[in-house]
Amino acid sequence: MNVQESVALVTGANRGIGRAYVEALIQAEARRVYAAARQINSLKEIVAIAPDRVIPIALDVTQAEQVNAAAQAAQDVTLLINNAGVIGSGGLFTADSIETAQWEMNTNFFGTLAMVRAFAPILQQNGGGTIVNMLSVVSVANAPVFGSYSASKAALHSLTQDIRAELAPQGTHVIGVFSGPVATDMAENVPGDKAEPIEVAKTVLQAVETGLEDVYPDAVSQSVFSAIAEPLKAIEKQFATWLPQ
Ligand SMILES: NC(=O)c1ccc[n+]([C@@H]2O[C@H](COP(=O)([O-])OP(=O)(O)OC[C@H]3O[C@@H](n4cnc5c(N)ncnc54)[C@H](OP(=O)(O)O)[C@@H]3O)[C@@H](O)[C@H]2O)c1
Repeated sequence: MNVQESVALVTGANRGIGRAYVEALIQAEARRVYAAARQINSLKEIVAIAPDRVIPIALDVTQAEQVNAAAQAAQDVTLLINNAGVIGSGGLFTADSIETAQWEMNTNFFGTLAMVRAFAPILQQNGGGTIVNMLSVVSVANAPVFGSYSASKAALHSLTQDIRAELAPQGTHVIGVFSGPVATDMAENVPGDKAEPIEVAKTVLQAVETGLEDVYPDAVSQSVFSAIAEPLKAIEKQFATWLPQ
């Protein structure tokens, strides 16, 4: 896919990696970018970068009416970037761990599922398009320091593999981004080196252009996946053949 010709929609576009996606898309001269955020006022600065091409949209991915309204308003989308995500704290045995896990699953898994269900027909009518899902290194092994977040990102990894197979016949390309720590609000308490959001966003846009399925955008991600990427992909491809042709 040619990013310059794309019309993108980015969820959670007001800060962190989402904001960096919008910046990278504008630098790459994308035709239009729908910047979606829960609070539309939080998008003022990012819209100001290119007011003719950045369209603000109010969107909480856990609210079905808002997801449907976004799909109605953005019928020309060819590149959907599911970036919005949340992380809780505490282990699985704290007083509120079930509520925390439900919040993470509702946003990270069900919110993304709602978005791909709403936008798959739009991508199809626009020639196939590309979906990007923000996964994590903890999608493939649980980090108990944020155990239920890891579970939600494992579920999102599984969803990503499913839609890659189910949407292949309509020509929709699906990318999973297995990010390590990135310097945003979400990772402020994570020690060690962190990638810059803009570098992650640019690496992903290159993958959109070259048609990669899996992106390892930083050193932590690359070291986690160097030994397992190939066997994981082989299992995914094998299970995908179970779909009826
Ligand atoms: N930072 C990392 O180290 C890291 C590593 C691997 C993967 N990731 C993933 O990358 C994505 C972006 O993370 P980030 O680091 O940029 O996080 P962040 O700085 O905490 O930003 C999260 C974004 O998601 C939005 N959001 C949260 N709940 C939402 C909802 N229900 N509907 C719509 N938007 C919602 C937030 O909006 P508000 O401003 O309204 O809260 C914010 O724009 C997430 O999916 C995260 O899991 C991050």
